[in-house]
Order: sequence, then C-alpha cells, then structure tokens
Amino acid sequence: MRIAFFTGAGISAESGIPTFRGKGGLWEKFKVEELATPEGFFRDPERVWRWYDMRRKAISEAQPNKAHRLIALIEREYRDVWVITQNVDMLHQRAGSEKVLELHGNIWRVRCLGCGAVYYEFRTPLPEYPPKCRECGGMLRPDVVWFGEPLPVDVLQKSWEIARSSDIFVVIGTSALVYPAAQLPYVAKEYGAKVVEINPESTPVSSVADVVLRKKASEGMEEFYSMLKAQAF
Ligand code: APR
Repeated sequence: MRIAFFTGAGISAESGIPTFRGKGGLWEKFKVEELATPEGFFRDPERVWRWYDMRRKAISEAQPNKAHRLIALIEREYRDVWVITQNVDMLHQRAGSEKVLELHGNIWRVRCLGCGAVYYEFRTPLPEYPPKCRECGGMLRPDVVWFGEPLPVDVLQKSWEIARSSDIFVVIGTSALVYPAAQLPYVAKEYGAKVVEINPESTPVSSVADVVLRKKASEGMEEFYSMLKAQAF
C-alpha cells in the first residue's frame, strides 16, 4: 500500500513557524513581490537575505511536531510512504522522514549565481548579506522556488508519479492555492487514491476529499494513524 503525505505550511504551524496566508500569515506582514520573487531579490538582495535569515533562525529554534513525527513513524512501519512537501523548513527530515520530495526547495540550501554551486549553509545568522559562494566568491541566493520560477523538474515529475500511484493521499496544512503543487491532490484522486484532508479550515481540496479531518495537523494525524491501524482505508 503506497501512502503519500502532501504538506504545506500548516503542518509546521504547531512548531511555531508562521504560515503564509490566513491570520498572522507572512503575506499579511510582508510583500510577496519584494521578498519571494527574482525581481525582488535582484532589486535588493541584502533585504531578501535578511528576511530569509530571520526565517532560518526561527526554523533552527523550532522542533518538528507530533504530525511530522507520526508521518516518520508511518514511513518506518509501512515502508512505501512518501512526503511531498511545499515547505522549505526541513522539519520532515528532522523528524526522521527519509523519502521527502521538496517541491519549493530548501531554506538551508544556497545556490551560487556565479558558478552554479549548490550546497547546504546551516549557519544562522549568516556572516554577511548577501552571503558569498565558498567556491568562487560569487553572490548566493536561497535555493528555494520564488513566484514566477519553475519548480525542479525531477522533483515535480517524481511527485506526479507518486500522486498517480498512491492508495492514500493525505493533504495536510495547505491552502491548495499555489500551482502546480496544488494540482497533486486532484491527480491522486483521478488515479483512484483515497484523499484525506487534515486542515482546521476548508480548502478547494475539501470538496474532492474522501475523508476530511477538520483539525490541526497533530490531532488530525493521530486520528489518521488510528484509522490506518484499524484498516479503515
Ligand atoms: N494544522 C493544520 N493546518 C493548519 C494549521 C494547523 N495547526 N494552521 C493553519 N493551517 C492551514 C490553514 O488553514 C491553511 O489552509 O494551513 C494552510 C496554510 O496555507 P498557506 O499559508 O497558504 O501555506 P501553503 O498552502 O503551504 O502555501 C503554499 O505558497 O507562499 C507560497 O511557497 C509558498 O509553499 C508555499 C505555498
């Protein structure tokens, strides 16, 4: 039985990391176009890096929560289990998940605009803004996907393949508004998966979900886990 967990910012909310939309969301306080677009970066790389490093510091002080940990437990118990995440915080990996597909990149990875080097840079605060490439001294950017940028093709293809072949597709903590990632629950549904949504609010996915757990991620994952154990699917 193949199980996929498609996650968004809401799964990290209980770890103290703000979501993007809804009350207290990042896009309420900050301007997307200034901080999460290539244009915004090239207009003011120092400003964008200070914002990302503030998020990196908050993430470094956060812990994976019960929802992340239950997903990692299910991967250990059921084996054919994948995480397809829109999140860049690496909390799934820190909780012990191994098969993790990062659709929007990773806030701990950097990419050099000069020589193209890609590597992990875990220091926060960073030594300077913008940070410089350790290989060539060129300017680094966060290795994340900004609005208007393509998603990593290999990750997208693998995610499509997993969605098409899942028996259970669990959608957790996403507003399901940002494409192409948001297409995945519909792909899973179309290919016969049981779609489960875990979210305290309704989203466009709610109307196609077979099971809706209108709860926070941790409580919803506990309920999902007991349903799985009871072979409810
Ligand atoms: N548990 C579960 N879900 C929660 C919780 C919680 N404790 N708190 C909030 N949520 C839900 C909200 O109801 C909302 O549906 O999480 C969702 C968060 O939605 P967004 O903030 O839009 O985050 P996400 O769906 O991941 O955004 C997608 O948009 O800005 C880009 O690249 C960014 O990857 C991000 C993408």
